[in-house]
Amino acid sequence: MKKIIFATGNEGKMKEIRMILGDLPVEILSMKEAGIHVNVVEDGSTFEENALIKAKAIGEIAKDAIVLADDSGLEVDYIHQEPGVYSARYLGEDTPYSVKNQSIIDRLEEAKGQERSARFVCVIAAYFPDGTTKTERGTIEGEIGYEEKGENGFGYDPIFYVPAYGCTTAQMDPELKNSLSHRGKALEAMKPWIKEYL
Ligand code: IMP
Repeated sequence: MKKIIFATGNEGKMKEIRMILGDLPVEILSMKEAGIHVNVVEDGSTFEENALIKAKAIGEIAKDAIVLADDSGLEVDYIHQEPGVYSARYLGEDTPYSVKNQSIIDRLEEAKGQERSARFVCVIAAYFPDGTTKTERGTIEGEIGYEEKGENGFGYDPIFYVPAYGCTTAQMDPELKNSLSHRGKALEAMKPWIKEYL
């Protein structure tokens, strides 16, 4: 059976990816499960650059496996698309999300209605065993809420309100979030390239 290694240490993302790619005839492994322990420096200035840096770094180590990597983040329009590519590092990598989320709510104190617009962005990069690469981007539009709501998901989900569903992505069933999310869309767009390779 062919293998896909997903280059992340984030369990929340791994869970989503296993669900989204579950219909492909491949074994999906985390880096840990593949026995790969490297720390890749994400020093690109765009989601595309960072996703490719990760996919290539792991792809060159992993033999015969397709390596997928994602780079994702939250863009909040009122604060000039911050935290963007720095979403994981915003206020420090180890700072609890309750603190990061409250900080964004506080910075939007004066923002009303449409001014609270935001989006999650995800770029998936694939590194195939023949050395070729591909990237696909997905987004989901929403608004920053006034307080944290919901227990599902991870990261900024409790403050990411999706008006069409009247709830945050942390209040959605995981299946629903995956069908709408930036990561779900980018992975769906990548699926045909994976199938072609298989
Ligand atoms: P990355 O691991 O460098 O891609 O970091 C992305 C960061 O963006 C995560 O650590 C979260 O803070 C945030 N993020 C990305 N996707 C989501 C999501 O689906 N929900 C909540 N936060 C997300």
